Amino acid sequence: MDNKKCEEILEISHVTNRYRDSGGLFSKAKTTRVLNDVSLTIHRDELFGLVGESGCGKSTLGKAVLGLIPYEGEIRVAGLEHAGSSRREFTSNVQAVFQDPLSSLNPRRTIAKTLEEPLLAHGIGTKESRRQKALEMLELVGLDATYADRLPRDLSGGQRQRVCIGAALMLDPDLVIADEATSALDVSVGAQILNLFQEIHERKDFAMLFISHNLNVVYYLCDRIAVMYRGSIVEQGDAESLYNNPRHPYTRMLLSAIPEIEESDELSQYSFEQTRREAVPEGCDFYHRCPYATEACKTRPGLEDCLDADPDPAKEAAGQGTAAGRPDAGRDPAAGGSGPETTAAAPVVREHLVRCWNPVK
Ligand SMILES: Nc1ncnc2c1ncn2[C@@H]1O[C@H](COP(=O)(O)OP(=O)(O)OP(=O)(O)O)[C@@H](O)[C@H]1O
Ligand code: SF4
Ligand SMILES: [Mg+2]
Repeated sequence: MDNKKCEEILEISHVTNRYRDSGGLFSKAKTTRVLNDVSLTIHRDELFGLVGESGCGKSTLGKAVLGLIPYEGEIRVAGLEHAGSSRREFTSNVQAVFQDPLSSLNPRRTIAKTLEEPLLAHGIGTKESRRQKALEMLELVGLDATYADRLPRDLSGGQRQRVCIGAALMLDPDLVIADEATSALDVSVGAQILNLFQEIHERKDFAMLFISHNLNVVYYLCDRIAVMYRGSIVEQGDAESLYNNPRHPYTRMLLSAIPEIEESDELSQYSFEQTRREAVPEGCDFYHRCPYATEACKTRPGLEDCLDADPDPAKEAAGQGTAAGRPDAGRDPAAGGSGPETTAAAPVVREHLVRCWNPVK
């Protein structure tokens, strides 16, 4: 297959991953499921954001795409499946930028040598052409040629991350995975790196899976966004509509955690620690944090049952789980306020419930 003709750069289909904990002296070995039937597609040249709180499985999905961990399901990059392609072929087409640039760089290797390394490893070019491409890449990531013969310790955190981005692009990959690539940087430096991603993306042909716990950052950069909760994609869509009209209660919670967006949102009353999966083993993972939850959600009933169910009495008493307590209640779309733009609770509830039980394929 000619990879350059494939418009779906990343196809993840029904991917599940489990970590096996071998247990200790007094505990049995157990298996923990981290990814739960994840499906998403990233198209050529698309900037795709994956967002969710810490521990939900974002990096695990990134590692699965990079072929670093085993998984069930199917992952194809530019039409190629891990199983059917050589490691060399695969790694040249999928590259990654991680959170900590210092640990990604060899402290004894000069910046130019770091940039040349992927070409050398794949037997591409001559010594002179590799050096030339490294210098061009330095320019692309906003560093001049004087950085070429310096060591990582001579650079700031933001400059090192620019080098990591350059190294990721040396083989002209179809897909770049950026996992919390701005999280370790100061806000202003992180913003510069986001702008750099945008600038480079305009000049080069690649798609990106941008992983972050910060919905604001993902919204700023990405064309489409998927929201992950406990290893499941609960909602995905184009960035504008997901950010301005979030449909799933968890997406709303993420937005409510951004103070300037939803300071008074009811959802912000729920802390991230309020969840305990064990309490509703058969029910929805989001039960303890969801203002929409009903008794029916404890046992994951049929869709109609849930739509007709009464709100949980405890939450009703607290003004939550009812129309009055819903984050979209009383907000007039004509008023043009920020956040969810609908007063019609029922259709919104229906839509998000459809997604609760029928994860986006
Ligand atoms: N090698 C491993 N063995 C066992 N459990 C693991 C392993 N790696 C990750 N986990 C668990 O899998 C879950 C998901 O981890 P992951 O690193 O993918 O989360 P994340 O969404 O990237 O979080 P963060 O935003 O903090 O980076 C966590 O509960 C983590 O403890
Ligand atoms: S199933 Fe939907 S409404 Fe029920 S608790 Fe889960 S997210 Fe909330
Ligand atoms: Mg992570």
